[in-house]
Amino acid sequence: MTNAYKIAILAGDAIGPEIMAQAVRVFDVLQQHRDVQFELIEAPFGASAYFEHGKAFPEQTKTICDQADAILKGPVGLSHEESKKIPVEEQAERGAILPLRARYNTFANFRPIYLSKDMAHFSPLKADIIRDGIDILLIRELVGGLYFGEKERGVNESGKRYVKEVLEYDEDQIRQVLVVAFEQARLRKKKLHNIHKSNVLMSSVFWNEILDEVHQDYQDVEVVHLLVDAAATALCLNPGQFDVMVMENMFGDILSDQGGGILGSLGLMPSACMGPEKAYYEPSHGSAPDIAGKNIANPYSMIGSVAMMLEMSFGMNEESRAVWNAMKSVFEAGCSTADLSSPDAGTQIVSTVEFGDMVMTKLGELLAN
Ligand code: IPM
Ligand code: MN
Repeated sequence: MTNAYKIAILAGDAIGPEIMAQAVRVFDVLQQHRDVQFELIEAPFGASAYFEHGKAFPEQTKTICDQADAILKGPVGLSHEESKKIPVEEQAERGAILPLRARYNTFANFRPIYLSKDMAHFSPLKADIIRDGIDILLIRELVGGLYFGEKERGVNESGKRYVKEVLEYDEDQIRQVLVVAFEQARLRKKKLHNIHKSNVLMSSVFWNEILDEVHQDYQDVEVVHLLVDAAATALCLNPGQFDVMVMENMFGDILSDQGGGILGSLGLMPSACMGPEKAYYEPSHGSAPDIAGKNIANPYSMIGSVAMMLEMSFGMNEESRAVWNAMKSVFEAGCSTADLSSPDAGTQIVSTVEFGDMVMTKLGELLAN
């Protein structure tokens, strides 16, 4: 029986459609080589959706996503200046991304920070720090904390303007993401770095208490506690010490971008946002309006998000690995998009489309064998 999957395609803004155009080619190649069918349903999302439909996350897009087996989302958002044309509550981040996360309760955000040995020259870190490459799975809580807490602004009794933003978690919200992290640690090196700020924040003290409880069920996993500020340093000085890391929403936002930094580009950061019933996949980076339409954006994180979908939503592990290997082959051939090239690395710069061409050719070969 042919497996058939419905995928909502939210191409997004700026470079979104360009990198999405390359990523969806993976589905075509798979259909040619495997007994599988993908129905891709495009839907408006982000700033472009606001301009066309008056909403950043229009009703029809919600319906398409509700009915899809998985969602593939491109980056959204506009430049600071352009964003001002959109009311604050409809700007892509607040009007589209956060509501998407909330709608499907995608509480566990998988952000692999991965650099194989033959990609090591992309990293700004020295070779003796990188050694055999970087292979970290950062798990970020994605639907709680400051991002979703109550917000208030006004004028206080002494006539001063003030703002208040609440960081709130209940025990279940913390437990569910920790369980995911422990499970992943168990599948990998049985080592979990718990990132927190318990020397200052009550929320971290509470988080750590829940962690101790959950740890009871995962005694084969070693837990290492690290303060978030120290973790930022450690990621630069010795990324090899990390395997799985887990942290709350805001910490994860910041440290995952640092992850992109130690790899050499945010263009190397795909991600999976997992909820109890639905998952969506997206690059960790923004929509880079400054390079939109130039055919120079790096589609790796978008294609990598497809690879993550294949594995995590459809159990197509072998095919997922083939996608990663096809991307690796581009680098092995000495090519990369412009974001990854450095003057002395001798890299041959390829365009967004050329990168896609190389990946699809190789992927076809790998799947044919
Ligand atoms: C990310 C992004 C988002 C976040 C923004 C665009 C809302 O930076 O996915 O990391 O802060 O979560
Ligand atoms: Mn971010």
